[in-house]
Amino acid sequence: MLMAAALAAPALPAFSAGETPAAPTKAAKPDLVKGEASYAAVCVACHGADGNSAIPVNPKLSQQHPEYLVKQLQEFKSGKRSNAIMTGFASMLTDEDMKNISYWAASKPATPGTSTDKALVALGERIYRGGIADRQIAACAGCHSPNGAGIPSQYPRLSGQHADYTVSQLNMFRDGSRANSLQMTQVAAKLNDREIKAVADYIAGLR
Ligand code: HEC
Ligand code: HEC
Repeated sequence: MLMAAALAAPALPAFSAGETPAAPTKAAKPDLVKGEASYAAVCVACHGADGNSAIPVNPKLSQQHPEYLVKQLQEFKSGKRSNAIMTGFASMLTDEDMKNISYWAASKPATPGTSTDKALVALGERIYRGGIADRQIAACAGCHSPNGAGIPSQYPRLSGQHADYTVSQLNMFRDGSRANSLQMTQVAAKLNDREIKAVADYIAGLR
């Protein structure tokens, strides 16, 4: 009886007549037109048309989750992620600029990349999909998703990224010079050079 009574609890009432829901707090919407203009004035030289960098040491920004891009720009500015070049450029941006540019870049389709080393890419695929169980290395796919699209907004997109850039970031997480993600520090700590190269090559061709 008691249970039946509990189950029969009435549904939560909808707004009663005459009552209007509170206006949502107004978060400024990103302005993609301004974002594109700021990008074209400065960033395009290194990150390429539409955020598709053609230079392997400069990351592609296209189709990346905007929250991730904003986080990186804020951390370059604050020094939490250190890079002499990007600290300078991020320091010139306001919060609004960061948001505008990031949402604009996120709206641009990423150009696919390619893997180059057939032997190495098989090792990379194994690590990406399954991790290395006996050394407690987690599968990349678990956080970055099987196709490398990432999981908004916490886990960035990786697929198609330049292998040179990915190698440099994994090295920097491992040696502590990129220290803005405990999760990635722990993952990279256990990878050797060959494994880093392999997984980066696999990621470059992932789509
Ligand atoms: C002179 C070349 C150069 C310019 C200009 C430049 N960047 Fe960068 N950017 C880089 C390099 C190199 C890196 C990789 C830094 C590292 O290794 O940590 C980077 C990294 C980034 C990242 C991190 C991406 C990721 O996947 O984590 C973001 C975001 C970024 N840049 C945005 C911008 C924006 C926005 C501008 C314009 C205001 C800009 N950059 C201008 C060279 C440049
Ligand atoms: C437990 C979750 C988790 C796992 C497992 C994981 N990652 Fe990550 N990864 C993250 C997070 C979170 C970030 C974003 C860090 C930040 O905010 O700066 C990240 C960022 C990265 C970046 C930097 C991307 C960029 O654009 O600069 C690379 C490269 C990367 N991960 C590669 C890998 C690889 C390769 C593996 C597998 C060997 C892996 N990750 C496993 C959570 C994870």
